[in-house]
Amino acid sequence: MTRAVLQGLAAPDAAVEREIASRLNDVEAALEKAVRSDSDFVTEAASYLVNAGGKRFRPMLVLLSGYLGDPTDPRLVQGSVAVEVIHLATLYHDDVIDEAEFRRGLPSVNSRWDNTVAILTGDFLFAKASEIASDLGTDVTKLLARTIAILCDGQIRETEAAGRPETTVDAYMEIIRRKTAALIAASCRLGGMMSDASSEVIEALDDFGTALGMAFQLSDDIMDLTSSEAELKKIPGQDVKEGVYTLPVLVALHDPRRGAELRELLAGGPPDGERLARALEMVRSDGALGLARAEVSRHVRRAKDLAGGFADGPAREAFLHLADFLAARCGALA
Ligand code: IPE
Ligand code: IPE
Ligand code: MG
Ligand code: MG
Repeated sequence: MTRAVLQGLAAPDAAVEREIASRLNDVEAALEKAVRSDSDFVTEAASYLVNAGGKRFRPMLVLLSGYLGDPTDPRLVQGSVAVEVIHLATLYHDDVIDEAEFRRGLPSVNSRWDNTVAILTGDFLFAKASEIASDLGTDVTKLLARTIAILCDGQIRETEAAGRPETTVDAYMEIIRRKTAALIAASCRLGGMMSDASSEVIEALDDFGTALGMAFQLSDDIMDLTSSEAELKKIPGQDVKEGVYTLPVLVALHDPRRGAELRELLAGGPPDGERLARALEMVRSDGALGLARAEVSRHVRRAKDLAGGFADGPAREAFLHLADFLAARCGALA
């Protein structure tokens, strides 16, 4: 599932798409260097998920945001590498936390090696990202450090809420704002900063990134329930199995007709085997998915409203297109 094969990610303007594709090639080359170590084993473990692919969604946002300033500024490529390396580090750790067996179509690092390798390689990547950020100046170092702290705070909140059917929708929204939307917003902000956009534009980019990031995680959560293993490149239903009750589950739990049965199913802790199958069946057959999709639409529309305020041009078009892509990928209206 690389960016190249996902049609919906291409910028609508052919010339801009060519430029983005070419800069993303530069990002790839720099990424490969950024994760190298003088130990062969560390290089192998740290390159593992880079080589496995991924959408490069965050680097693409840095580069696109650069069109609201000077898109040719070379700092945009380095900034892109820094955010993707942070993202990678969070994936190494996330798969330990979620006990996930697959990532990007391959056995996760924790299954290929073990938790210790995954945790330490994740730490190694955070350190590498800080080193790159330091070359870009104090403001970038501060932005990325603060973003990592917010992200960890979101993950901790998620761990606290895990297995608790009484988790509120508000608490869940705050979790995903922190664990996912913060880095997506920071990617947009960084693109503005690295292209010397005005401070008003940088703030607007941050707001746009937050709305897009909320839609990103909400749609990812829906797809965990509705997509096939082939589409996801990992096993569906993993969130419920781990006790991560995402919006469709929380909505189903509050359903006056079926909520009681689901609450009872989840009362004994995160479900497995028959209980998991029944819980998934209930969440999938309920109107809960429809309500969760409506929430995606709400954030997509907000993102599009904000993008509509940017100067007319190819970046604005690309942002509108990306927001539509996030709605379409989970069956929500744009
Ligand atoms: C996965 O992010 C983690 C979430 C925030 C849902 P991506 O969906 O961007 O993963 P890759 O980079 O394409 O593998
Ligand atoms: C995504 O977590 C957020 C981070 C990686 C910090 P998830 O657990 O929801 O992501 P996937 O679905 O495993 O990619
Ligand atoms: Mg997780
Ligand atoms: Mg996960």
